[in-house]
Parts: sequence; C-alpha cells; structure tokens
Amino acid sequence: MSGTVGLIGVKDKQTEELVRLAGMRPIVLQPEDLASPRGALSATPDVVLVDVRGDRNLLGAIAGIKRRHPQMGIAIIVPALEPELMLQAMRSGVTECIAEPLTQDALESSISRVRVQRAAPVEGRVFAIIGAKGGVGATTIAVNLAESIARSAGETLLIDMNVATGDAAVFLGVDPRFTIVDALENTARLDENFFRSLVVHTPSGLDLLASSVRVLAGQIDPQRVRTLIDFSVRYYRAVVLDVPRAEPAALDALDAASSIFVVVNHELPTLSAAYRIVSRLRQKYGSDRIGLLVNRSDKHSDISIADIEKAVNAKVKHVFPSEYKPALAAANHGQPLARSSDSRLAGSFHEFVRAFTAPEKQSDDSKRLFNWLTPRRSQAE
Ligand SMILES: Nc1ncnc2c1ncn2[C@@H]1O[C@H](COP(=O)(O)OP(=O)(O)OP(=O)(O)O)[C@@H](O)[C@H]1O
Ligand SMILES: [Mg+2]
Repeated sequence: MSGTVGLIGVKDKQTEELVRLAGMRPIVLQPEDLASPRGALSATPDVVLVDVRGDRNLLGAIAGIKRRHPQMGIAIIVPALEPELMLQAMRSGVTECIAEPLTQDALESSISRVRVQRAAPVEGRVFAIIGAKGGVGATTIAVNLAESIARSAGETLLIDMNVATGDAAVFLGVDPRFTIVDALENTARLDENFFRSLVVHTPSGLDLLASSVRVLAGQIDPQRVRTLIDFSVRYYRAVVLDVPRAEPAALDALDAASSIFVVVNHELPTLSAAYRIVSRLRQKYGSDRIGLLVNRSDKHSDISIADIEKAVNAKVKHVFPSEYKPALAAANHGQPLARSSDSRLAGSFHEFVRAFTAPEKQSDDSKRLFNWLTPRRSQAE
C-alpha cells in the first residue's frame, strides 16, 4: 500500500510504526487541521486514523472532519468493540473500528477497506471575491483569478453567485445551458454527475457555474448556498466565488471560504462601503481570512494604500494596475486576460496566484492561507 495516513490522538510510536510497515506515510494531525476551513493542510491524507483509547472526546471531532471532507475514510482505534461506542462512532461517520490488540494485519486490512470506500475527490480551497461597490472590478478579478489558478493548478471552478444578474459567462465567452439556479433548486439531489452536467467548461480547463436569466423561485436560502459550496469543494482543487455584496444569503454562506477578498479602489465612497462589508464579514468569519484587493491602482491618488488599510481596517493583499484597454478588449471578446500574459494586468493576476503556489517565498501569513495550492504531485513526493 502507498499513500498517507493522518494520525489523530495517537500517543504511541507503535501505531506510527505499524502504518509505516504497511507502506504508508503517517502524518500526525490535530482534529482542527482537517475540521477547520483554515486548517493548514499541505497534504490531505488518504485516510485518517483516530485513536480514541486515550480520549473518547475525539469522537466528537470526527463529525467536524466529515463535514469538511465528506469522502474521507476514517478508522478509529478503540479498546474494545462496545456497542455504545460503536453506535456513536457510526453516527459520527467512522467507517472502521479497530479493536485492541492492534496488529499489523488488522490495521492493514482496515486501512485498505477505508481507502476503497473513499471516492476520488480533489481537495479544494475556496476564494470569495466581493466588490465593495458596483463596477469596482470584482467579476474581472474573480474570472481572472480562477483562470490563472486553472492554468497553474488545474481543476478550478468559478461560481457566479449573482444569481440572476451575473456576467461571468460573458467574461469567459461561454453560453451556459444550466446555472446556479438549477443547482440551488436541486441541492437535495446533488451528485457528481448531476453537478458536472450543470457546469460549463471553458478552453483553459476552468469550469463555470453561471448565473441565470431565470429568477430563483422564493428567497435564496444560505443553507443551500453552503451545501452547494461544500459540494463543489469535493471535486475541484480550487473554487472561486463571485459574491454579490447586496445578497445577505450569499454573504452569510461563506463558512467554507479560506480567503475572503473585498475589492476596493482609491475612492472614499468605496472605502466607506468596504468598511461596512468588512465589519460585517469579520463578525461572522473572524479577521484572518479577510483581505483587500485594490483594483485600478492609482499612484497619484490622494489616498495611499496605507490610507486604504487604515480606512477599512484590513490588510491589502494585492494591488492590480489600471489598464482600461486590455480589460475592455478582454471583456468584449469573452477572453479573460489571464488566458495569456500579454498585459501588465494579466501579469498581475498571475503574480497574485503565484503568491499562492510558491509558499516558501511568502510570509507566514500567506503561507497559512495559500500553501494548499502547491501542486499535488509534489506534495506526494
Ligand atoms: N484593473 C482594471 N483596469 C481597467 N479596467 C478595469 C479593471 N478592472 C475592471 N475593469 C473594467 O471595469 C468594468 C467593471 O468591471 P467588473 O464587471 O469586473 O466590475 P464588478 O465589480 O463585477 O461590477 P458589478 O458591480 O456590476 O458586478 C469592466 O468594464 C472592466 O473591464
Ligand atoms: Mg460583477
């Protein structure tokens, strides 16, 4: 067997050794590495082994892990197969219980069963882009961020969450048959085939779940939006969300987002709107995940980057230059700038994404946010 086994609550070296003898690589983890959206995961294990012999409370953490990684196979090590413990384990989503005495055979066959049950999802990460004001460039950034990630890391999905008013499909030059409305109306029957039939493929490999001209019947339910995001994360390396600032159901459904970027420019009304949005987001998601993106930067503006950070009370993560002509041509031709590297603006999108893919060059802060995007092949080496 090859692959990685995440060990949680394992106190003895013997278990680690048994995993190694099975040909797999043990990685010692804390439950929050897998359960929290900010979990610093440079390598998602193939299976997880939780030792509850020393601490039964660890069973409580498994439900959280399953919520974020529904396909993850989880085995637990128990002192004995007590019915009550087994029932609790089953309810939390455990697939195998291994009782003492812990032997090489028992461990190996449990791990191989757990691995077989696991589908083949790709670990994804979620980036939300919100414009502080209309026309500030949120869709331009969301589309090009997604395009650039798709080029460098593959398997990327852009979700246009502007349910009936979005224009990401125009920026990407595609004509979607199905849309986010179909997905939100059918969250109960989402499965991989159905989901893949709703997205539209673009030439670079980026997939789009587009907005609709059809209005959703009734109000948008944040829980359905959450379900949709959680579902897409299973199948894509990265998911980029173009989030409407005026839609509470979308703003309240960003629990799975690892980074939430609010797009601003050098104008005071935009900054004051950004301050309100950031304050609201911070209350719900904390400060760590929230950053600012300055679009159409203007070196000659009276308002500097430091002023922007002070006015909005958040850090600027990247500054994109103003390039009217290439931006307009790209939108008019349905060819995102990041499909090439021909303009300064395109270069700036790639540079922003490179900051995720070359974590060793980044500050600790960026590392924590972005180290997941290191191509999976090199993680396994
Ligand atoms: N860095 C830039 N330099 C020059 N023009 C830009 C830049 N970014 C975006 N634009 C242009 O600004 C316009 C508005 O951009 P975009 O549609 O991305 O904004 P938005 O915030 O999504 O707007 P909305 O509020 O309507 O959703 C587009 O014409 C786009 O080409
Ligand atoms: Mg937009």
